[in-house]
Amino acid sequence: MQQLLAKPVVEAVHLEVSDRVSRFKAKHGRAPGLAVVLVGDDPASVIYTTKKGQAAVAVGIHHETVEFSTQSSESEVIAAVRKLNLNPKIDGILVQRPIPKNFDAEASLYWVDPAKDVDCFHPINVGKLAAGLPGLRPCTPMGVMRILKHYGISVAGKTACVVGRSNIVGKPMAALLLEANATVLHCHSQTKDLMKLTRQAEILVVAAGKPGLVTADHVAKGAVVIDVGIHRNAAGKVCGDVDAAALAGIPSAITPVPGGVGPMTIAMLLANTVTAAEMRES
Ligand code: GUN
Repeated sequence: MQQLLAKPVVEAVHLEVSDRVSRFKAKHGRAPGLAVVLVGDDPASVIYTTKKGQAAVAVGIHHETVEFSTQSSESEVIAAVRKLNLNPKIDGILVQRPIPKNFDAEASLYWVDPAKDVDCFHPINVGKLAAGLPGLRPCTPMGVMRILKHYGISVAGKTACVVGRSNIVGKPMAALLLEANATVLHCHSQTKDLMKLTRQAEILVVAAGKPGLVTADHVAKGAVVIDVGIHRNAAGKVCGDVDAAALAGIPSAITPVPGGVGPMTIAMLLANTVTAAEMRES
């Protein structure tokens, strides 16, 4: 059972992005810019935003973090995002989720200028993805596609099954697999007889947010299993949506948790920032 590790893929993406940044700087006299907006002090969000900033700097991307306390008002945050929308040095803007519960989550999808929406959360960009039009693509699902490409796993004509229908992962994941010519089965919490569908998958992507949901009974012999879940179990150990230990010998390849899909999100965010910069300058 091959372990599809993120590390070599992240290294390859970083090299590629650094090269694109150098060419962008030579052509336009400035670095691509990424702004990360953080509201509150959710510990995971603080860690993620710090990592995003460090990764940006490491590949030569100009980086700014704009931080707000938990007490900040929605209008203050919106005003800051509007300023970033107009800032010529900034090409990509990311508002770290979750945002405070008293903020309007639906309205927040429209805050970032679609041209700078490196998360691909704005309905314009979601629509472009659905319509197969060129544009920014969401980071985590792109990271999954990049892992498949790196390890030489073809997608066209294969039966892929996505478990989970979140706007951040499940829905765009199914769209990207379809765009890559897979036959896509899309399962979710209301799916009857989940196993019957997941067992048809040659590529099984699990993004259900449920630790250990996928067991040996869900997986066909020789399938490629991609685990997007990340949880901490009762013993404090990081685990995914797939009970990986129980799958031994069944799949041909699997992404471990940690060290599989997780690190790809930030790598693809860097790639998206350069793509947004190139598109804005073209
Ligand atoms: N919180 C957890 N993952 C993400 C992500 O990909 N983007 C944003 N903006 N917030 C997140």
